[in-house]
Amino acid sequence: MAESNRRDFLKAGGVAALAAAAPAVHAAGDDKIKVGLIGCGGRGSGAIRQSLASDPSVVVHALGDVFEPKVTYLEADIKKQFKERVDVVDRTFSGLDAYKKVIDSGVNLVLLATPPGFRPMHLEYAINAGKHVFCEKPVAVDAPGIRKCLELVEVAKKKNLAIVAGTQRRHQRPYLEVAKRIQDGVIGEIVGGRCSWNGNGIWFNKRKAGESDIEYQLRNWYHFLWVCGDHIVEQHVHNIDVINWFTGGHPLKAVGMGGRIGGSAARPDGDPNEVGHIFDHFAVEFEYANGVKIASYCRHYPGPEDVSEMVVGTKGTIRTSGGDNVVINGKRVELGGGKDPYVQEHIDLVASIKAGGKLINELQNVTESTMSAIMGRMACYYSVKPTLTWEQALASQEDTMPKSLDLKAEHKIGPVPQPGKSKFV
Ligand SMILES: NC(=O)c1ccc[n+]([C@@H]2O[C@H](COP(=O)([O-])OP(=O)(O)OC[C@H]3O[C@@H](n4cnc5c(N)ncnc54)[C@H](O)[C@@H]3O)[C@@H](O)[C@H]2O)c1
Repeated sequence: MAESNRRDFLKAGGVAALAAAAPAVHAAGDDKIKVGLIGCGGRGSGAIRQSLASDPSVVVHALGDVFEPKVTYLEADIKKQFKERVDVVDRTFSGLDAYKKVIDSGVNLVLLATPPGFRPMHLEYAINAGKHVFCEKPVAVDAPGIRKCLELVEVAKKKNLAIVAGTQRRHQRPYLEVAKRIQDGVIGEIVGGRCSWNGNGIWFNKRKAGESDIEYQLRNWYHFLWVCGDHIVEQHVHNIDVINWFTGGHPLKAVGMGGRIGGSAARPDGDPNEVGHIFDHFAVEFEYANGVKIASYCRHYPGPEDVSEMVVGTKGTIRTSGGDNVVINGKRVELGGGKDPYVQEHIDLVASIKAGGKLINELQNVTESTMSAIMGRMACYYSVKPTLTWEQALASQEDTMPKSLDLKAEHKIGPVPQPGKSKFV
């Protein structure tokens, strides 16, 4: 979203205002919104239910996943709750091209919930096919993917497609209220801040007998750069997105440090081809416009947990940490929880599609937030001197996608990056 639009958007009160402004035109041409899901894992299983919960006109029309058992399981599971609204006969697909088959199956709206390495490819096919999209965050793992998403922002605008991203804090009442108060000047001009995703770690799956590299890397996707983007991108993007939203821009520069201590359940020691090669901690100083500095931390080994954001202004501070936990100038304030943001984002998406007019489009915001996180990762992996700039990071030629995408392919991955030695490209 351009700067002026972003500010108007905040003033107008966020997503609800966008949907309400549009005249009533039904996008699907009948009374159903036919949804297709790509990626039937944890988030996809949640997103399809939340889409169904958002509006009675939503029906499930197609399901796809690279692994067939995921599709079969989810189909049976959602039918237990929503039998009348699931009709996927002859429209369940598996394999690496399942996304094309879902998108080409007559759906109006696609939910993209695979690991993020595939997101630019899936977004491109969906947007070129003229489909409305719910896409999970992050939307890419490297700069070539980001550049593709930026092109798609324009295509989606021209086609007036509705795009909502899984940065659900932007649909969460307390966060929307805080954004409004910041806009109203409650803490004055923002001069600095901090954001964190410090957690104990994630799952790790050992290789099964006979599994190819690509199969193994997909089943264990969070440990490989090309599929997950490292945890600063994969999870901490949520907090960086909030900072971008509150400050009304994206970072211009980044310096950072990080590494992989290893030896934990979340980052076992060993051959990177078996245990992955991503870091387990990052600390980045982002510089925004007007010299505003934001400290960003994320961690995946045992220690104190903290998933939160804080901005410091000339007149006070605001701390947010999910849900109702908002502290303004040292005092906890009750801002009314509102609906579950995972449902609210689908309500806002479907309301916009049904209302017509200028449809909601969050692709620019989530692309900028994803790029911010990628830039933070690059600043830590490569120690670019004197500081890594937004333009440099965005122009990076590091393309992480395997040259041959075949489920049975061999695919050797690189070592853990060595700050100070590994080269920025
Ligand atoms: N917004 C949030 O709070 C939130 C929470 C959790 C996850 N997520 C996001 O959701 C996405 C998925 O995460 P998850 O936790 O559901 O992972 P998951 O492993 O549970 O599910 C991913 C699914 O995608 C499938 N898949 C992988 N590559 C595919 C491809 N090329 N084509 C089709 N299917 C493919 C996998 O087989 C798996 O079933 C990630 O981007 C993650 O960041 C967002």
